Amino acid sequence: MRLDKFLSDNTPLTRSLATKAIKAGRIQVNGSKAKSGSVKIQLETDQVLFDGQLVAVNIGCRYFMMHKPQGVVCANSDGEHQLVFDLMRDVINVERLHTVGRLDKDTTGLLLITDDGQWSHQITSPKHHFEKTYRTWLAEPLIAEAESRCEAGIELKDELKPTLPAQLKRISDVEVLLTIHEGRYHQVKRMFAALGNRVTALHRESVGGVALDEQLKPGEFRALTPEEILAFKPA
Ligand code: URA
Repeated sequence: MRLDKFLSDNTPLTRSLATKAIKAGRIQVNGSKAKSGSVKIQLETDQVLFDGQLVAVNIGCRYFMMHKPQGVVCANSDGEHQLVFDLMRDVINVERLHTVGRLDKDTTGLLLITDDGQWSHQITSPKHHFEKTYRTWLAEPLIAEAESRCEAGIELKDELKPTLPAQLKRISDVEVLLTIHEGRYHQVKRMFAALGNRVTALHRESVGGVALDEQLKPGEFRALTPEEILAFKPA
């Protein structure tokens, strides 16, 4: 593998910053200053130092769950609001991560974060219908026929196709667990709007078979376990 690619894969440097770092004499390969980004690196045997520090080979993709707090946005840049990635500043190469789908700024709960584009596509693709369960608090007491209307599919404003059947579990007249099998824009809020209600708070408890770790406080995150990662692989 070329040295500049090796550096961009395994350090925060982009390919062009890697070239600059090489020119500035900041990169050593096996004890000598590297002269060019085109030098070939043997991953198993060569030792690369960046500013005197050994560059470890990044062997795989990264997978996290976060307890998303209120008020932060699921985006890689936003001039105005705090980003979920601002809460992950200690993670190396944090700018390579993306969220798996999005939660609204005011929504809390389980957020999956990765740098594996295939894995996240697997989860968000409309083909797969991974279920998502939201604890939802409402402004008004829920109407009696809400369960059957969710199960039958709800027509959302400005959309032709009704939602897929969704399961509603009533905790009280103003608190429910809603399980949906797709991820349309503001879907939960729009479903309750179609039922004449308004969501006052929304918290995602699970995606697929993976539940939010109760040990995580809002704003905290942890790496997913191998079982959690594999829960989204196709059967
Ligand atoms: N549905 C919504 O309306 N908002 C979310 O954040 C997630 C699902």
